[in-house]
Parts: sequence; structure tokens; C-alpha cells
Amino acid sequence: MSIPENWKVGILFSTSGVTSIIEKSQLNGSLLAIDEINARGGVRGRKIQPISYNPGSVVSRYGEMAEKLIVDDKITVLFGCYMSSSRKEVLPVVERRNALFFYPTLYEGFEYSPNVIYGGATPNQNSVPLANYLMNTFGKRIFFVGSDYIYPHESNRVMRNVLRQGGGEILDERYLSFNTNSEGFAKIAREILEMKPDAIFSTVVGQMCIDFYSAYHEAGGDGDTCPIASLTANEAEIAAIGTEAAFGHITAAPYFRAINSPANRKFLKAYNQKFGTLRDVTSCCEAAYSQMHMFAAALEEVGEMDTEGLHDALLCSAFDAPQGQIKIDPDNNHTYLQSRIARVDESGEFVIKTKVRRAIKPDPYLVYPEIHDQSFRTQKVVQSKP
Ligand code: ACM
Repeated sequence: MSIPENWKVGILFSTSGVTSIIEKSQLNGSLLAIDEINARGGVRGRKIQPISYNPGSVVSRYGEMAEKLIVDDKITVLFGCYMSSSRKEVLPVVERRNALFFYPTLYEGFEYSPNVIYGGATPNQNSVPLANYLMNTFGKRIFFVGSDYIYPHESNRVMRNVLRQGGGEILDERYLSFNTNSEGFAKIAREILEMKPDAIFSTVVGQMCIDFYSAYHEAGGDGDTCPIASLTANEAEIAAIGTEAAFGHITAAPYFRAINSPANRKFLKAYNQKFGTLRDVTSCCEAAYSQMHMFAAALEEVGEMDTEGLHDALLCSAFDAPQGQIKIDPDNNHTYLQSRIARVDESGEFVIKTKVRRAIKPDPYLVYPEIHDQSFRTQKVVQSKP
């Protein structure tokens, strides 16, 4: 009897370079889901086989490697990318070649492609609740700082609009290049402290996030009284920043490792068994894990790697993710997600402070940008350890 051929999927996460800390966690999430799918017999009796390349956090390489996966390796389903600039490289490739691309990362919105399934939060799912929380808890004078590329520029444009609706004031808006040195981080930290904001909204990513938070602490910044708030700072980066420098800072995301639910405990147990640590379980890792499972369910239904067939099967499909139930919105290929806000405590762990009551419909074009929309009503969370 011949062994059935594997289902090959392409994976593009960087294991080196500026965003490797988070992309490794996304790779791990994908690989864990593949293990689980294969352990229960694969899809229609065939295993899923990842073909993985390392773009080294070099933006142009994501497009080149996507082309290689599709043309040379003959793979039509791809997973990958963290930075929006890398997604923008892959986008024309998957559209031209009619491949299906899963993107498990929060981003700035204002995009739709029939070839992309978006698994991370859009601004209405993270920025809007975060703006409310910051203004209600700390005050209305906010300083923006970001890495110099599309996600920070666009996210700040959206955040500026949302904050202004609630009477917020943006004190300044600064961007740091990817080759900023330690003096550059120290200088911006001093400038921020001189302006005495109520809070800082940071879209500084990857290794730069670690450098910036550390510089802020060294310059005398105090997360307790003037926190840095982010959509990306995650468990792996917070661990690298260190407990003292990370204390008090805030992140808005659909998932935190600290969620105390049966689905999350099961996920963490499986992750720990495979990788021997929970240090790098992040919201983007969880999104990558969930997207792989949703793909496998769609493939089970369709039975072939047909882009249109898989796309149709994915629309409206739901998954009991570690964050809670999620589903793909047939209106826009994005995902209904939970929305939480967490703060780093004295032991360096995120403690969830608020949670929006139900999964929020993705609104990538911010058609309904109302800051006081009822769907953003939050509930306070009294948290116990998972
Ligand atoms: C991002 O660049 N979408 C984090």
C-alpha cells in the first residue's frame, strides 16, 4: 500500500533579525497546531507538512520566499509575516499566483484581499478599547512613539482620530528608524519625560520594543504613573525587558497567556510539552495556532488545496481558540476576536484588567469608528492564575 502524500504548507516566519522574538512564537504556534492535527490522523488521512523558510526579518525576502514556495515548491497555502511591511511584499505575490495566505498578526487595517485570511486584531478590536481605557484611567495627554514603517504610521493615524473623539490630545508623534542606537532610545525617552504625558502609545516593535522600554526605565520613566501602552508588547518581549522595567505597562490584545479557561490551560499544557517553556506564548502565537486549525478544518471539508474552495469553507468558520470562540467574518476575511487589556504586575506577568463582553466584529475600514459604541463596553476582570 502506498503512503499517502502529505499536504504541504508554506511557512514564512523569521527566526533571526529584529522581529524574530515574536515570529519564533508564531512559528511555534503553527508547528504545535500541525502536531495536533497530525496526531489525530492528519486531514483525510494525510499529514500536514510544513515547508518553512527564514526571511531573517528582511522585508523584501518575504515576497521572494513566497514566490519560491509557490513556484518552486508548488505550495498554494502559506502562513506567515509579522510586520505589515512584509505582508505588503507577500500580498501581490499571492494575488498574482492565486494562493491563500494566512496572516496571524494584528495590523493597522484598511486592507482586504480575497487571497488573505486575517487572524490578528484590527484597530476597532484593540485601539478603540485601549483609547477608552487610557483616557479613563490616566488622562488625555498622550505621546506617540513608533518604529518607522507602515504599521506605526497608520495605527497612529487611527489612534489620533479615536483619541480626539474622546477629547484626547496628542503631545507629539515620533518615529525611530530600525537602526536606532542606545543613545537614540535614551534621547527619545528623555524627550517624552520632559513633555510629562499622561500615557505613551507605543508602536515600537520587536527588539526595538525591548530597547525602548528599557531606555524609558533607565531615563526615570515609571510604568505605574505614566505607562507605555501598546498593541504588540507581548509576554516574550516583556520577559526580555525584565520585571522592573516592564512594571505597569499596558497591552491591548485578544489573548494573554494569563487567561484562566479550560481551552487556554489545554493549549498551554500542549505548548509546554512540545517546547519545554511557556515564556514565548504570545497573542500572535495563539493566532498562528488557531489559523492552522481553522485551515485544517476547511481542508477536511474541501479535500483539496483549492484556493477558492478553501476560502469559501473558511468564511463563517468558527474555532474554540485559547482566547475564546473566534470566527471568520464573511464580509471581509478578518476574524471576530476577543479584546482584552492587561497590565504588567510586580512579578513581570500580565494581569488582565478588562475584557470586552463578546468577540468584536472586525471592522478593518473603521466604518463605525465611534469610541462610545456599545459593543466596546468592557467588564472588569478579577483574575486568578491559570
Ligand atoms: C504589524 O506590523 N502589523 C505589527
